[in-house]
Amino acid sequence: MTVDDFVSNRSDNRPFEDVLRARLSRRTVMAGSLAAAATTFFAQGTAGAAVASRGNGRGNGQGQTDLIGFEPVTLANGGGVNPSISPDYEYQVLIPWGTPILAPYPEHVNGSKSAADQEVQVGIGHDGMWFFPLSRKGDHGVICINHEFGRNSHVFGDESVTVTIGEDEVVLPISLEQVRLSQAAHGVSVVEVASTGGTWDVVRGGYNRRITPNTPVEFSGPVAGHPALGDPSRPSFGTLNNCSSGYTPWGTYVTCEENFNGYFGSSLGDDFVPNAAQDRYGFTSTGFGYGWELFDSRWDLSSADADGEYNRFGWCVEIDPMNPGATPVKRTAMGRFKHEGVAFAVGRGGRIVAYMGDDQRFDYIYKFVSDSNYKSMRARGMSPLDHGKLYTARFNEDGSGDWLELTIDNPALAAEFADQGEVLVNARVAADILGATPMDRPEWTTVAPDGQVYCTLTNNSRRTEADAANPLAPNADGHIIRWTDTDQFTGTSFEWDIYIIAETTHGTEESFADADGLWADPDGRIWIQTDGGQKDGLNNQMLVSDPQTGQISRLLTGVPGDEITGLTVTADRRTLFANTQHPGNGDPTLTNFPVENEVPDGTTYPRDCTFVITRKDGGIVGS
Ligand code: FEO
Ligand code: CA
Ligand code: CA
Ligand code: CA
Repeated sequence: MTVDDFVSNRSDNRPFEDVLRARLSRRTVMAGSLAAAATTFFAQGTAGAAVASRGNGRGNGQGQTDLIGFEPVTLANGGGVNPSISPDYEYQVLIPWGTPILAPYPEHVNGSKSAADQEVQVGIGHDGMWFFPLSRKGDHGVICINHEFGRNSHVFGDESVTVTIGEDEVVLPISLEQVRLSQAAHGVSVVEVASTGGTWDVVRGGYNRRITPNTPVEFSGPVAGHPALGDPSRPSFGTLNNCSSGYTPWGTYVTCEENFNGYFGSSLGDDFVPNAAQDRYGFTSTGFGYGWELFDSRWDLSSADADGEYNRFGWCVEIDPMNPGATPVKRTAMGRFKHEGVAFAVGRGGRIVAYMGDDQRFDYIYKFVSDSNYKSMRARGMSPLDHGKLYTARFNEDGSGDWLELTIDNPALAAEFADQGEVLVNARVAADILGATPMDRPEWTTVAPDGQVYCTLTNNSRRTEADAANPLAPNADGHIIRWTDTDQFTGTSFEWDIYIIAETTHGTEESFADADGLWADPDGRIWIQTDGGQKDGLNNQMLVSDPQTGQISRLLTGVPGDEITGLTVTADRRTLFANTQHPGNGDPTLTNFPVENEVPDGTTYPRDCTFVITRKDGGIVGS
């Protein structure tokens, strides 16, 4: 979303672009070119890491390796009205926005729908997801899927009413019913799915569930019951702007609340003045223009009903997909920021480790480490996600890094905050004080089988100064960073390098920009999904890369206006699920997907949906 573009970090912390420029300039004195700089970077990977070879003339980019053997989607085929997939693969469409999953199973209508219908249908804005298998055969499971956002103009369909505010034309709700519709399109869906004879469909079974901004939730960890959440007798409801997600070794789904600030507004209009904490999280009088506050005072920052409500969002939320009656739990020990996603690893001593990005220009990367062995904690009835240390990352220009703990025991934080709860609620401010490194919009993280942690930094349009000593500027197309922590994920230092600078792929068949979704599969392939303006005529896309060889092969391209996001596989890894989000940006003159008209008909609204992707020969996906 372009809403990530503004900067709320006003600290003096040294930005990552500066660290990177310094580190690269040291390495380019001899080399003198971007390609050589990138090569040096890859070859310089952390101890035991793969040595990649991008930019060293390794051939035509289609060379086949053991890991990636499929024929890629070419530049020529990657920019159409409809998706393109590798000739070695095929896709079908599953759970488009509006698919009925609960009684009375109302069918999707092209146009406007009721809030009551949307509450029992799949939401919009398909994003992070995970497949929880119900069979070993890879033909049956439960998908938990996030619904990041949907514009009013799209969600309200034929009922949209455009309002002019100043110079802006916006679609605001005209009733509480429309607010409820918008809210029900958000949140999470839990959907049982199965394949019959190779065709996937929804199972109308007991696992199916919608979790929306109006579903009861619980708070757990140090912030539960904290005064920052307002009146503790006021129940907590909901999750929203669920971007990416993670899954725990104990079989639960963790959904991440990203741009929560945008759903609040103020009845004071231009007279609204956010307090310092609200300011650091980007709250304004209009938010992103959803207008929920017009009919639902819980979202009005100037109403007593919103007291502390704005601090009830910005968390990781744990959902048990196998227990439809279980209340979603906000795990506050993992901190409050614009959580893009979370990648879990099991660290030394069986401690659970979680890597997380805060997606805003110049915001930070975080890590959570549980206090002890996750199995023994669970056996004692404790959640490992409630008791642990939260850190933020500082990247040093010599390739080392430090994890800085967000703890009230640090005098610098004790001078600012009353208790650990306040530190966690204001994690961004605490990280400012600790001197974390402002990054170029951290998106997804993933942990590779060799122990390296990868993170997409989608772009930073502020990187504008280009000169011989700073060969990466401008870096409007982002890069992927990776690091190795000491002490089996649990240590407080690390070594880092850059995996890929997106700009180095432009003009080649490996072209991509604005990496966002990311997944390291068990064989070591690094999957990359994009969200942003692609180069070389491409739509947004999904690619598979091999850190051992530097190969990047394009598996799928989406449709105009969309992003490709979310990625999960069946237990046998013969089936992969990935999403198109906001196809056509909701505009039926750009695309009607999943209706595949060669010429868009202008009336059939495109719908966010899931691709079910298989190799035609039944092989492992990505191979
Ligand atoms: Fe939800 Fe940062 O994309
Ligand atoms: Ca998105
Ligand atoms: Ca994203
Ligand atoms: Ca993005």
